[in-house]
Amino acid sequence: MKKGKETAFFCKECGYETSKWLGQCPGCKEWNTLVEEPVVKREKGRMIPVGDVPKPTPLKDITVDDEERLSTGFSELDRVLGGGIVAGSLVLIGGDPGIGKSTILLQMCKNLSDCQKNILYISGEESLKQIKLRADRIGSFGGTIQLLCETNLDHIEENLRQINPDVAVIDSIQTIYREDVASAPGSVSQVRESTSILMQLAKNLGISIFIVGHVTKEGVVAGPRVLEHMVDTVLYFEGDRYASYRILRGVKNRFGSTNEIGVFEMADTGLRQVENPSEYMLNGRPENTSGSIVTCSVEGTRPMLVEIQALACKTNFGMPRRTAAGTDYNRVNLLIAVLEKRLGMHFGEYDVYINMAGGIRLNEPALDLGIIMALISSYRDLPIDENMVAFGEVGLSGEVRAVNMARRRVSEAKKLGFKVCVLPKVSADSMKDIDGIKLIGISNIRQISNLS
Ligand code: TYD
Ligand code: MG
Repeated sequence: MKKGKETAFFCKECGYETSKWLGQCPGCKEWNTLVEEPVVKREKGRMIPVGDVPKPTPLKDITVDDEERLSTGFSELDRVLGGGIVAGSLVLIGGDPGIGKSTILLQMCKNLSDCQKNILYISGEESLKQIKLRADRIGSFGGTIQLLCETNLDHIEENLRQINPDVAVIDSIQTIYREDVASAPGSVSQVRESTSILMQLAKNLGISIFIVGHVTKEGVVAGPRVLEHMVDTVLYFEGDRYASYRILRGVKNRFGSTNEIGVFEMADTGLRQVENPSEYMLNGRPENTSGSIVTCSVEGTRPMLVEIQALACKTNFGMPRRTAAGTDYNRVNLLIAVLEKRLGMHFGEYDVYINMAGGIRLNEPALDLGIIMALISSYRDLPIDENMVAFGEVGLSGEVRAVNMARRRVSEAKKLGFKVCVLPKVSADSMKDIDGIKLIGISNIRQISNLS
């Protein structure tokens, strides 16, 4: 940086600002994420004249018309958005590069343009030809969608004002820059300033704007977390790049509940929504092998069956290994300790690997019982009945505690043809009326060995 210019250090993960460089960001505790950037100076003397000061409105005088939501054409995406697109909202879609953010937004634009909505798709990353090539893979587009390759925010603003589309897409925010901000595109201050302008535009013009934010690990590009507090809705697109399914997760939503997920599958004609993820997740489940059990997890309001796999095998070193793929590592260690103490199992001589089949990430306490049973099954090398589902939270003394939405979990298991469900005793007692699936309520993990 040139001398004489005022600079500060910004964390490119969370946007934390400090005057000197630090190895670890005090805000998000990430290492080596602080980068030096010029400080954005506000123009002096631009005070609002007193006559223009807005007056507060009494809450009871504010009327809300039945707010109309625009359907994206994907029920999975609509659900994550809280029921569709809200006019004038700013939505951030984050995710690793190549996960399918541009694809899903282009597909959404196609669905919207099929309903005669005006769309402006602004790309700062790809040329018109590249977008056209992707569009050709997805299908044939209507006439109401316009493309613009632009990175200058002033030009984008001008276009938004003139065209006044129903929905606009900005791909990606890290390529957009404002001329009056001194730092490079993608820096924390550029990304923030551009987003705040887009927020104002969305609110003033009533345009719903979707912005793409790449999650970056290296380089000096600011990540989407820097913007989370500024936008209305934050969605993250996650999934294994090597597996074909993708999960869209709501992290923040001013217009609906968070923690809803949408499940998609990447095909050669774009993304396809998976309406029955349980079936999808259980595909290819091994038969009659130890260490495998199906559990039912609830994401938002929707139950999903997933297979938990455990492998406990004799360790060759003094230090046993533990890995947890797709779930919380510390939680797995805790459950192993509970098994050691309460059931007298000797995991000290075993390496333990836990895996959520299908590459999905879940972190719910309700998975505990499944993990425990998979561990016991692998340790004893006894397969679990493949028609069995188990869920419940396990406490430190080995007690099995109730979890929320137990009834919904049981119905999902029943729907997919499971015959037995192991669950917390309190939940089982409250569901005596359910038939077609045998409920086994347990109150302590000691009772697991009595199960046949
Ligand atoms: P893209 O939407 O460009 O990712 P992002 O915008 O998040 O960086 O998606 C890129 C990947 O998706 C790419 O690896 C190719 C794959 N893909 C398909 O498999 N099928 C398709 O129909 C399309 C359009 C992309
Ligand atoms: Mg892209």
